[in-house]
Amino acid sequence: MELNVSASENINGTLVLPLYEGSESVPESCEVGMPASLKSQINRVLSDGDFKAKKKSTMTLFGGEDGKAILVGLGENDDCTIHDFRKAGAAVTAGIKKSHGSELTVRFDKAGVANMGAFAEGMMLRDYSYDNYKQKDDDEEKVEVSVRITCTEGEEEELTKLVKDYKGICKGVHLSRDLGNCPPNDMYPEVFADMARDWAKSYDNVDVTIINYDEAVKAGMGGLVAVGKGSARKPCMVIFEMNKNVEGRCPLLVGKGITFDTGGISLKPGANMDEMKYDMGGSATVFGTMEALAQTGHEGKVVAITCMAENMPAANATRPGDVIKGLSGKTIEVLNTDAEGRLVLSDGLWKAGEYDPEYIIDFATLTGACVVALGHEATGLWSNDDDFRTRIHEAGNDVGELAWPMPLLPAFEKEMTNSKIADTRNLGAGRWGGANTAAAFLKQFVPNRGYEKDGEQITWAHMDIAGTYWGSKTNTMVKDGATGVHVRTIHHLITKS
Ligand code: BES
Ligand code: ZN
Ligand code: ZN
Repeated sequence: MELNVSASENINGTLVLPLYEGSESVPESCEVGMPASLKSQINRVLSDGDFKAKKKSTMTLFGGEDGKAILVGLGENDDCTIHDFRKAGAAVTAGIKKSHGSELTVRFDKAGVANMGAFAEGMMLRDYSYDNYKQKDDDEEKVEVSVRITCTEGEEEELTKLVKDYKGICKGVHLSRDLGNCPPNDMYPEVFADMARDWAKSYDNVDVTIINYDEAVKAGMGGLVAVGKGSARKPCMVIFEMNKNVEGRCPLLVGKGITFDTGGISLKPGANMDEMKYDMGGSATVFGTMEALAQTGHEGKVVAITCMAENMPAANATRPGDVIKGLSGKTIEVLNTDAEGRLVLSDGLWKAGEYDPEYIIDFATLTGACVVALGHEATGLWSNDDDFRTRIHEAGNDVGELAWPMPLLPAFEKEMTNSKIADTRNLGAGRWGGANTAAAFLKQFVPNRGYEKDGEQITWAHMDIAGTYWGSKTNTMVKDGATGVHVRTIHHLITKS
């Protein structure tokens, strides 16, 4: 889809008309240049109540030789928010058929720049399918749709800029989804690292450093190594740096990148195990966010660390009962090899301290317990700083990606540090509160500023995206597969707040 903004009054191709509930005829401001037969058809379905303009509903009208229209509902004017505009845009893209042709012209009735931009964003976000692995029929060429968002002359400049930013952000979301959807035989730590390295070549303000398996062993990344050593595809850590020469503290993102999670020796049950290809969703979120920032010309410094490994059972795999030691020097009793995300993250979080970041946010498809708690509707959000947690929660609300506050209670920390033989344990005492105990475990590996023993812990938040990174049925921006969630949240957090 090619999307542009213009103040021209022409209607090229199919007209897209967003409408509020209760509209009984074409809004006056939208009438200019509308073919008479099309207009009367639209007026007819509106006055008869055949199209009620309920949120996300669409209807196509063929006005004969005179043109076609897609009507799309925004719901009631009173409670219509920017999110409804975004969803309406996505609903249009979802409903585009060959018969709509290759050109669309969107015309709003005094919607305002922010809402028009969100509509465009929704159209672009929903314009995604993962068909790399399907044979293509040579004669079935895909129609490339070109969309023109029309506005007044006074709005043109601002809307053009907004849409340009959304295009860049959308590239980041779609990159995250591509990474997540890629099958695990083709997406393993080394491939992810190669992709990051290649990506860095296309921008002169980003650098990517890869810590390979041997280097990870040498550096003492015991968590990453313990998880990845049982696989023929060896683990690695990928570090992204943007505008690294900018002075001062910066945001630091950490991602869980388990390219496939069998559970290891604590093998998962067979049903739906294929879904564990999404277990690198955290690393995909981080990579996608860096792409969104690079695309939109972010000038601040940002660092990201992804912890890549494949969790396999093998003769040389980590066993339940093993005690390991990672970068932090703290020992971990591995009681279940399926609780592997926290092990790789323990090294990523500790490593983050080297960059003296303003704050650290980690993203991980960490626990089934989080999906039990919040379903596919919201990400679990924990932080060692209440104000910071609120900022992230609000950034999520602003872009329509929910992140729900969860508790970091001292009791959970106690539970994860009462191993009989090690400093910490990777499994809670029982199954209750499993998403919270996982977060409490991670907190043990968030360094203090300057790694000082009695210093202040770096501001940190943890986002458990086990339920939101895939499988969402209510996310209008996504048909199926990986969702690419939180690229937009974090881009917004970093650039706007
Ligand atoms: N990758 C899983 C978590 C997960 C579950 C993600 C469902 C997406 C959907 C994680 O590594 C895991 O297996 N966690 C265990 C932890 C348990 C052993 C403490 C879990 O949630 O069962
Ligand atoms: Zn696991
Ligand atoms: Zn996992």
